[in-house]
Amino acid sequence: MRLDVVTIFPEYLAPLRLSLIGRARRAGLVDLHTHDLRDFTHDRHRTVDDTPYGGGAGMVMRPEPWGEALDHVVAQGAGTSRPRLVVPGPGGAPFTQAMARELAAEPWLAFACGRYEGIDERVYEHAADDLDLAVSVVSLGDYVLNGGEVAVLAMVEAVARLVPGVVGNAESLVEESHEDGLLEYPVYTRPPSWLGRDVPDVLLSGDHGAIAAWRHTQRLLRTAARRPDLLHASAALGPEGMVAEPAVPGDAGELLTLQRACWLSEAVANDRLDIPPLTESLEEVALGIRDWQTWVVRSGGRLVGSVRARRSGVEPGAWEIGRLMVAPDLQGRGIGRALLTHAERAAPPGTALLWLNTGVASERNLRRYRRAGYRVRPGEGRLSGTVDLVKRLS
Ligand SMILES: C[S@@+](CC[C@H](N)C(=O)[O-])C[C@H]1O[C@@H](n2cnc3c(N)ncnc32)[C@H](O)[C@@H]1O
Repeated sequence: MRLDVVTIFPEYLAPLRLSLIGRARRAGLVDLHTHDLRDFTHDRHRTVDDTPYGGGAGMVMRPEPWGEALDHVVAQGAGTSRPRLVVPGPGGAPFTQAMARELAAEPWLAFACGRYEGIDERVYEHAADDLDLAVSVVSLGDYVLNGGEVAVLAMVEAVARLVPGVVGNAESLVEESHEDGLLEYPVYTRPPSWLGRDVPDVLLSGDHGAIAAWRHTQRLLRTAARRPDLLHASAALGPEGMVAEPAVPGDAGELLTLQRACWLSEAVANDRLDIPPLTESLEEVALGIRDWQTWVVRSGGRLVGSVRARRSGVEPGAWEIGRLMVAPDLQGRGIGRALLTHAERAAPPGTALLWLNTGVASERNLRRYRRAGYRVRPGEGRLSGTVDLVKRLS
């Protein structure tokens, strides 16, 4: 990745010679060039600013040195490629981890560090219209710095560490704060006890499942405490707080989307795409809501789970349960089990048998249904490539 930074203080970028980014530069992973804006002035005082038209406080950066500096940077590409131009500014789009990822995918970035009251607006137009650059104004946060250099230091560090090879253990990037919308869990190292404070027992237990569950809970608690704005209500949903409401016709669109998301893994497991939850049209899903008793679970406004049931038309006295689904990011929390129980309890008095159907190779479903008390009926299920499961009610 090539990076060019234009600034009136090239020495401000000196820290980028240190640590991981310095090592990445020496290893040739990141090729960073700084340019002194004053080298593109032609007067004795190397002037880069002037008073604002229309009056007002402060000074504005003149367009001529900026124009020449950007022309010079673009010329480094020998006409074959162009950098994406990032201009730090408090009025820009917020710089986030997602934007860092987006910028890390670019082969070439150029940064224009403003000072004073900012850069003459025509420089942005020249960059976009005459030099054909994609221009992004990017803010480090809702506060005002004296110049763009500190913002560039932060952005280059966040972007460059995502360039493959810069951080030795790529896995360490995956679990970090903001990567999936939550903050990171608390971390500990030796000694196990320090100043009377012990490392949480679970981290010493060697039980990876328990450690993962503890860390997930800590991420939720920490995000709720420090950054409630990041926490989508779904993240905290569990079977206890879950409310299954009867579906209404307007739920059809979201149900169609959810069933497609949920049955894709079934299609892969069973090596076939012609399964109704994937092939049904919106109209057919709407008819399903009419012909079955369907319940949906919403969280933070989002439809995240559903199940449906009806008196079986094929097997007298049986209560047929189907389309049990939970959004992929919320699976493994007991929501599916709670939905199944909900559908079972809705069985009318006199029901003798609960009936389910799943793909013959859907190992995970089969395990879950067995745990919930269902038994596989020998032979092929009512639909080809499936098995029927039943649970007798006393
Ligand atoms: C004093 S600021 C100019 C502020 C400008 N008059 C305004 O109100 O938007 C000078 C320079 O610092 C940089 N800067 C200031 N705050 C920033 C922030 N939050 N994020 C990124 N860059 C910032 C920009 O390069 C800006 O041109």
